[in-house]
Amino acid sequence: KKGMTLIEDGKLTVVAELGFAPFEYMDEKTGEPVGFDVDVINAVAEKMGLAASYLPNQKFDTLVPIIKQGGKADVSIAAITITDERMESVDFSEPYLDSNQAIVVAKGSSETEETLNDASKQVVCQGGTTGDEWIGENLPDAVRVPVDDVTAALTGVQTGLYQAMVVDLPVASYMLAQSFSDLQIVKEIPTGEQYGIAVSKDNPELTQAVNKALEDMKSDGTMKEIETKWFGS
Ligand code: ARG
Repeated sequence: KKGMTLIEDGKLTVVAELGFAPFEYMDEKTGEPVGFDVDVINAVAEKMGLAASYLPNQKFDTLVPIIKQGGKADVSIAAITITDERMESVDFSEPYLDSNQAIVVAKGSSETEETLNDASKQVVCQGGTTGDEWIGENLPDAVRVPVDDVTAALTGVQTGLYQAMVVDLPVASYMLAQSFSDLQIVKEIPTGEQYGIAVSKDNPELTQAVNKALEDMKSDGTMKEIETKWFGS
């Protein structure tokens, strides 16, 4: 493809924060990244005649800066919500999934969105996420606690260190069902977010090729297959 540049020939180099099941997380047996996004980017790479190759785990709030700066990764796919602010730094593919936020509390807790908006309440989130931003705007009186690791944040809600977490709804649903049976979703927040794949603004040919691959995956059923695999039909 004329003009398209890649970090390494034949490869689509991917950077992500790999603690966000079911989108991207480490398979305990193989030590390899797995998840919905991993399947999506593997299929995108395959359509482009490339092999996806993951860099080591990075903190979520460094992903957009890494893509913006260039030289390390071709794309970031990490359940990244397309926002106007991020679009000032990077380009995004067409949206590949719709999402919302959720408020997670301990089972048996009487906290609600209303009671959490109080200076005596600690509300945890992954730093730099749209959940982080939501707390700042909607629970201005609560103590907002941004952390790097979602599992640690949920564990903190479990032990009572924090009164609640705000995180993407599909992640809350999945992680609570898998490993946090003593937590519950007390509120679904219809933020109407859409996830996109981040690409450098210096590489519009790559964004175009990614969009073409996503389009093909939608029309040939690959996307549906990946959705069914991770979310059921
Ligand atoms: N969708 C949210 C955002 O864009 C959270 C994404 C977190 N992703 C991750 N891989 N940790 O801010």
